[in-house]
Amino acid sequence: MNIGIFDSGIGGLTILHQAMILMPQEKFLFYADTDHVPYGTKSREQVISYVDQVIQFMISHDCKAVVIACNTATAVAAELMRNRYAFLPIIGIEPAVKPAVKESGGKRVLVVATPLAVHEKRLKNLVERVDDAHLVDLLELPGLVEFAERGEFVSEQVTTYLQERFADYKLEQYGELVLGCTHFNYFKDTFQKLMPSHIHLIDGSLGTVRQLMRVLSTKGLLILSESQPNENNHWEILKNSTNVQYYTSGRLITDSLQLNTIEHLHERLERMRKI
Ligand code: DGL
Repeated sequence: MNIGIFDSGIGGLTILHQAMILMPQEKFLFYADTDHVPYGTKSREQVISYVDQVIQFMISHDCKAVVIACNTATAVAAELMRNRYAFLPIIGIEPAVKPAVKESGGKRVLVVATPLAVHEKRLKNLVERVDDAHLVDLLELPGLVEFAERGEFVSEQVTTYLQERFADYKLEQYGELVLGCTHFNYFKDTFQKLMPSHIHLIDGSLGTVRQLMRVLSTKGLLILSESQPNENNHWEILKNSTNVQYYTSGRLITDSLQLNTIEHLHERLERMRKI
């Protein structure tokens, strides 16, 4: 059986990448809903209907669990889908606000996410629960999803866009930057250049994959491997893995050019994982 991982687009590869490293023995179905990307500027009703379609697709394609590798879709639809498909383990990524507040040492925490995620109750509730000292600020970065989908990760335009979005913030007051959208992981090098050097970047990929492993293990669905899960596993060994099928809005990707692009995205993510 497969583990289904999906996002509106290439952002979800951050979770797949991490999952392949920690669970090389599993089979994955990766689904980028590129017909509907971006989710973050759509209405919640639209996103709920897209997520529902993807989950039905995953169920009909032998998935034993589904990871919503999209902070926006999790904020809008995770609870609803868990109620609707109670037989299916559904794991959703959420911005790593809790660890960021813990690790910020009293400095401010900036959470960057899509407009829909920022306006959803789920993120506001999470912040209220963990932010007793009122250290957390939320900032929308819708443009980054568009840059990512164009494959534009490092450019003057990306730098200018981020400089403009950060212009009103006194960045030296911040200790943590929470990447609350899986697409933002592709830009870690630019974030790092623009931020004072003491700011730590944090995202929810590792936590989400660990949660996936816990859920699968509790349900007896985790394929046990001889070796211990190891987050330092080398991507080099995995990159020719035949354990993943890639879909774009329900269409299996077989074209070698497209598969080559995906391989390059994994390579970039591997570099970003080390930042
Ligand atoms: N990658 C998604 C997230 O984590 C959203 C991107 C989009 O707007 O489609 O929020």
